[in-house]
Formats: sequence, structure tokens, C-alpha cells
Amino acid sequence: MITAPAGVDFRPLTAPVSIDDADASEFIEMVRVRNRIYREIAGHDDHRIAPDELLPHYQPDEDERRLMWTIHVDGQMVGRAGIDLPLQGDSKLAFWLVELVRDVWGHGIGTAAYELLERIARENGRTVLQSWAAHPDAPGPRLAPPTGFGTIPEDHAARFYLRHGFSLEQIERNSAFDLQGPFDGVERLLAQAVAASSEYRLVQWFVPTPPEFVDGYAWMKSRMATDAPAANLEFDEETWDAGRIARHDSRYTDSGRTLQVTAAQHIETGELCAFNELVIGKDHTEASHQEDTLVLKDHRGHRLGTLVKCAGLLSWRAVAPESPRVITYNAEENRPMLDINEAIGFVPIAYEGAWKKVLDD
Ligand SMILES: CC(C)(COP(=O)(O)OP(=O)(O)OC[C@H]1O[C@@H](n2cnc3c(N)ncnc32)[C@H](O)[C@@H]1OP(=O)(O)O)[C@@H](O)C(=O)NCCC(=O)NCCS
Repeated sequence: MITAPAGVDFRPLTAPVSIDDADASEFIEMVRVRNRIYREIAGHDDHRIAPDELLPHYQPDEDERRLMWTIHVDGQMVGRAGIDLPLQGDSKLAFWLVELVRDVWGHGIGTAAYELLERIARENGRTVLQSWAAHPDAPGPRLAPPTGFGTIPEDHAARFYLRHGFSLEQIERNSAFDLQGPFDGVERLLAQAVAASSEYRLVQWFVPTPPEFVDGYAWMKSRMATDAPAANLEFDEETWDAGRIARHDSRYTDSGRTLQVTAAQHIETGELCAFNELVIGKDHTEASHQEDTLVLKDHRGHRLGTLVKCAGLLSWRAVAPESPRVITYNAEENRPMLDINEAIGFVPIAYEGAWKKVLDD
């Protein structure tokens, strides 16, 4: 039995099919509250998203079940609690979040929301619970993960996780690249990478993925789950086929977002071996986001990471000339990737903690 503090209620969120539907107001308010919470934590609006651009991520999905509750105090929406249940095989995983506006922290609302989510995880046979949170820099005691890379302040969110039995497993660095500054360094690095990768050619597209690249892109996307440094976090093997690529692509195209994929293709075999993704919403004056970047294991050591990142950024100037910066996330122990980003000119702006708890079966 979960008892929420007096005056607090949790309402299951049903996402509308379209943002213009009569019943879309709860979803629109959820996104407004989400954006406010991210602004309160980060001090800027780079994590903002428009309701119609977030909506495709809340449509029924055969790869993952997404459940969310909005949290209300005396009728006012103050936050949200959500849980994602991957549907790969007999997945033991659940990914969750609880996000509250700052005014209501420290009254037991987060605890009640977490208890609801843990119950849902148990009811669905999930025993590995994982969650990420921003930990803005602050004075005082710090926590380090077992990776030995990075630390975060033992802040309110960290104490919340610890009290609910979670351990800090990994630090993620959030970095930014100034799109309005000079690109000479990027051009120089690209020239060096081109010279070091003569067996490869660059190919580029905007989603929806052209048919000739679907299989190669699907394979590289499937390797993101297995090849990115995961510390002691757990991820299921992911199967990506043409259908999943189409579902993935439509999450961007349905709301008019732009996703540019820059890839390296092995000339002799035609295999796609490395890729980089850059994304922006309909409002091109907002921040851009670097999403996945990966070099397949067999093709490492040819500067392909630098190649796809630099080529992607150089084209991006024409795609979104007004966007102020590109935001990206990397594991703090991912030295090869951080070396590339630092050489390009990305600078750290914030750190996140990745937290995990294993429930008894
Ligand atoms: C992290 C977060 C979810 C915690 O929610 P919360 O409602 O503040 O958490 P609780 O009130 O349940 O517990 C926090 C503190 O309040 C205390 N508390 C619990 N019930 C209380 C009550 N009824 N009255 C007063 N204090 C209470 C707890 O003892 C705890 O104290 P501590 O900081 O010394 O450990 C919230 O701060 C938040 O949304 N942060 C931003 C997003 C984020 O980082 N989310 C992390 C999970 S994804």
C-alpha cells in the first residue's frame, strides 16, 4: 500500500494520438512542467522540447512499454514519475525517473512516487532498476562510482537514490560545442581523419533512412547497446531490423525534427562501420543534440570517430546556422570518445550520475 502525502495524487498519463486532440491538455502540461524542472536544475533551456516533438516518444511501441504518472499537489501539476519496460525477450530491466519542481522537494512526494514505480517494476518481473539524474556542481562531500572516473556532489537527488538502495555506477559528462565559433580546428581534424581512413568513404543522410542504408544503420544501432562503455549497468541485446529503423525514424519525422546521420562506409565491402547523429527540433534557434556515435569494433583505429563527428558538424552549419551549440553526453571513462570531443572543442558543462538497484527475485 502506497501512501502519498496529503493533497498529493498520481494520475496515469494517457498520451493523445495528436497534439491537436481535445484530450491533449494533460500531456502538454506534463511537457511544460518537465521543461521547467530541467531549467531549474540546469539553469538553461537546452533540454527543452516542444510537446508535439516529445509526443512520438509516448506512442505505443513494440520495443518498450512506457508508463507515466503526472503528480499533482492540491490539483496543480508539480512533476512526473515514469518507468520504461523494455520488451526484448524476458528483460529484467526497468528504467525510471521521478522529476519534481523544486518548490515541492523534501515532503516525501518523491519517495511515494518511487514506491509506486518499484511496485510496477516488481509486478512486471523486473529486478534491475536503473535511473539517471543531473547532479549540478556544489560544495561538500562527493561520491565516486566504482569506475574511478568522475565524482558528483552528494546532493538531494544522490541522497534520495542512496536512501532507496541505489548505488552510483557511472558518471556521464555533458559537454557543449559552440556552433557560432570558428570551425578551423574541425576542418583540420577532418583533413587528418580523411588522410588516415583511405579505405572508407563518407555517406550522409537525413532520416527517413534511405533503403540502401537501412541494414547497415540497423546493425550499428544494435551495437550501441553492447559496445558503448556501460560500467556495471545492464542493457539488453537489441534487435534492430527495417521495421525498428522505420519506427525510430518516424519519431523524428512525425513532428518535423531533423536527424542527420553521417556514416563511414568501407569502400571494398560497402559495410557501414561508423556513424554520428545530430538532431534539432523545428525551432532552429535552439540547441542541437549529438545523439549516438559509434565505430564498430573491427574498424577502430582508423580515425573514423573523428571522421564522422567532424564531417557531421561541418554539414550541420548549413542545416542549423542559428543553433547556438551542440550538446552531447559521454561516459566519463570513455577516453577515446572524450579525446575526440575535446580535440574538436567540446567543453564539459555538467555531470550526471547513473544509478542502479537490484531487487531480490
Ligand atoms: C530526487 C527527487 C525525486 C526527490 O524527491 P523528494 O520529494 O524531494 O524526496 P523525498 O521528500 O521523498 O525525500 C527527500 C528528503 O525529504 C525527507 N522527507 C521525506 N518525507 C518527508 C516529509 N513527509 N516531510 C518532510 N521531509 C520528508 C526525506 O527524509 C529526505 O531527506 P534527506 O534529503 O535528508 O535524505 C526530487 O528532488 C527531484 O525531482 N529532483 C530532480 C530530478 C531528479 O534528480 N530525479 C532523480 C530521480 S530520476
